[in-house]
Amino acid sequence: MTNIAAEIDLQPLESVLAACAAKPGSLITILQQTQELYGYLPRPALAEISRATGITPAKVLGVASFYTQFRLEPVGRYLIMLCQGTACHVNGAESISAVISEELGIADGQTTADGLFTLKHVACLGCCSLAPAMMINGEVYGNLTASSVRQVLHDLAAKEAE
Ligand code: FES
Repeated sequence: MTNIAAEIDLQPLESVLAACAAKPGSLITILQQTQELYGYLPRPALAEISRATGITPAKVLGVASFYTQFRLEPVGRYLIMLCQGTACHVNGAESISAVISEELGIADGQTTADGLFTLKHVACLGCCSLAPAMMINGEVYGNLTASSVRQVLHDLAAKEAE
């Protein structure tokens, strides 16, 4: 197992904490800014937030786990949020998930070894008329088919290889 703590530079977090740690009710803001810095919430950063704010580690982790906006694991450059809402489900989201897993060799919640893609099943994305749908880094892809989703993944991988 890699020593993640050794790989995390906590220095950038210090300015966030210097600005916010003493303000009551600032935990969510601190967590948001920490995620902006690292792309997710590394455990050593949560420990540092706890130390600086005096909020217990359990409470910090509890808040970080409660809100879906927060990620506790690193994600790939492309975060594939595949909708599992009702409309998408009845329109074949499961088979789209299978195609993505087959193409990338990852299951829900996993990241490809090259750090390029993360697959995450999510609840309704709010674009049910496009079911089945997914969102990648804020862009919606709708009316997905096995071939269209393969094309999207190939295009993104090709873009990265340029
Ligand atoms: S159910 Fe998939 S976007 Fe609403």
